[in-house]
Amino acid sequence: MHSTMKKQQSTSPGKSPKESQVTMTEIVLPSDANALGTIFGGKIMAWIDIAGAIAAGRHARRVVVTASIDALHFVAPVKVGNVVHIKACVNYAGRTSMEVGIRVDSENPVTGETHHTATAYATFVALDEHGRPCIVPPVLAEGPEEKRRYEAAMKRRAARMRLAEELKRHEEERSETSDEE
Ligand SMILES: CC(C)(COP(=O)(O)OP(=O)(O)OC[C@H]1O[C@@H](n2cnc3c(N)ncnc32)[C@H](O)[C@@H]1OP(=O)(O)O)[C@@H](O)C(=O)NCCC(=O)NCCS
Repeated sequence: MHSTMKKQQSTSPGKSPKESQVTMTEIVLPSDANALGTIFGGKIMAWIDIAGAIAAGRHARRVVVTASIDALHFVAPVKVGNVVHIKACVNYAGRTSMEVGIRVDSENPVTGETHHTATAYATFVALDEHGRPCIVPPVLAEGPEEKRRYEAAMKRRAARMRLAEELKRHEEERSETSDEE
């Protein structure tokens, strides 16, 4: 935690996930492909990061940085010439961080057939003019789908925090052991 930041809370009434919604459409070029003619995972990761940052920036109306991206599973390859749709919106906001859900689908432009390619959850942190984390509006989840996403995001956040704590403890124990040697 940045030591200079006060423990204030947002005074904003909150924003709907619809206000942060982003839809990006791309086409897979030969320069994006591997030797099999399918897209590099890194290209999709870059689009995920961009769509996520735009959604988080819209929610916070601040500069945002990527704090982390959860496990990313590519469930189907995407061929050169296919159209890729990247959809993102803020699922949940903490004090200064936001979880964005990003879904990637591919479309065959000739048949119109679409396939789910990947889903990712990324956390972005809003920064103030001094580059310090700053308060963001809460998310106002309405309707069953937004509420389901909000609750699932809360659970993932709790799991991320548990893992971070565990890793910190492990690091501390490891450095104590190496100091004794
Ligand atoms: C992200 C960053 C600003 C957090 O700074 P920090 O000093 O750890 O800030 P804090 O401890 O006050 O945490 C701020 C928020 O970020 C969250 N956070 C911090 N690290 C996180 C991580 N790895 N994953 C998810 N959330 C994280 C905290 O839970 C907190 O959320 P909350 O305010 O909603 O409760 C800082 O680590 C950073 O600048 N990282 C580099 C970011 C960057 O350059 N990204 C580009 C890709 S390399």
